[in-house]
Order: sequence, then C-alpha cells, then structure tokens
Amino acid sequence: MTFVSLAANRYSLRNFATKKVEKEKINYMLQAAQLAPSAVNKQPWKFIAVTQPAMLAKLHTCYPRDWFKTAQACIVVVGNHEESWKRLDGKDHCDIDIAIAVDHMALAATEQGLGSCWVCNFDLEKCRQLFNFASHLEPIVLLPFGYPANEAVHEKKRKELDEIVTWYE
Ligand SMILES: Cc1cc2nc3c(=O)[nH]c(=O)nc-3n(C[C@H](O)[C@H](O)[C@H](O)COP(=O)(O)O)c2cc1C
Repeated sequence: MTFVSLAANRYSLRNFATKKVEKEKINYMLQAAQLAPSAVNKQPWKFIAVTQPAMLAKLHTCYPRDWFKTAQACIVVVGNHEESWKRLDGKDHCDIDIAIAVDHMALAATEQGLGSCWVCNFDLEKCRQLFNFASHLEPIVLLPFGYPANEAVHEKKRKELDEIVTWYE
C-alpha cells in the first residue's frame, strides 16, 4: 500500500464490531506513536491503552455517544505541558506533537485492518478526574478503535488541491 492509499483508506469509524483487538495490534499502534517526531524531541506524551470493559464504560461517561460505546479499545493521549517545547513567544507545541502521534496511530490502525476515530469533543474535567491527572497533564485526544462492524462506505470530502495550495515555482 502506498502512503497516499493508506491515508485515503483511513476514515473516522463510528461503528465497531464486538471482536476484541489483539494486543500485538495495539502495541504496533503504540510503536507508531513512539516513532512520531516532536518539537525539540521532547516527546511530551503518555498513552493510556484501555481495553478493560469497566474502564471503557467510565471513558464513555466522558463522551456519551452510543457509537463510542461500541469501541473495544481506546487510547487516551495525554500531553505533558511541563515537558512540551515552548517557542520564545510562548507558543506551546504540545497539541502539535500529540496530533502527529495520534495520526501515526490512526494510520497504523488502518494498516492493520482496524478503524479509529479521533475524539476531542469530550468532557475534559471528567476525563481528568477519571485518571486523577496532575494539572500539567492534559488528556488531549481519545482514540477509540477496533474492527469495523460492517464494510463502511466512506467518502472523502476534501477541498480540491487548487483551493488549498499556493505554489511559488
Ligand atoms: C482534532 C480532531 C478532533 C476530532 N474530534 C472529533 C470528535 O470529538 N468526535 C467525532 O465524532 N469526530 C471527531 N473528529 C473526526 C472528524 O470529524 C473527521 O476526521 C473529519 O470529519 C474527516 O473525516 P474522516 O476522518 O472520515 O476522513 C475529529 C478529528 C480531528 C482531526
């Protein structure tokens, strides 16, 4: 699979099968995250891999959508604002670093026949309390993933390249 076809095959899966995800596949995703670049190589992240049904149910309270309940696994991606690089003007690069790591995981999931969906619209305070995070640790993305319940037809709605690209040739 070329990189572009892998990227084209990834889509937001919101309907998961009941089949459990093999631990090797989860580890492969975590390795992909580990390899992600980060500003000044600070690697300001922690990954909480959840497959335990009781903890998945608690996570569901942070993002109470029916489809989220169907996920057999979820990785909570946590940014460490004490470790992340800040530019001289103060810009914290934590979100950028986390986004790259999450994208690596989402693509690694796709490569292995799994689907995933980025979730940022969760209840931050509930999630913080659930894991008792210190204030410098911010859960930034939940990545539920698993096998697709059915062959989803997904269309990529994307702006045309000429709408988003400027060339200086
Ligand atoms: C930073 C980010 C946050 C997102 N948060 C949510 C979310 O909270 N809930 C959700 O259902 N989808 C969420 N998504 C998924 C987007 O809606 C989805 O990626 C976009 O519509 C493009 O569709 P595709 O992923 O199928 O290509 C998020 C995606 C990104 C990149």
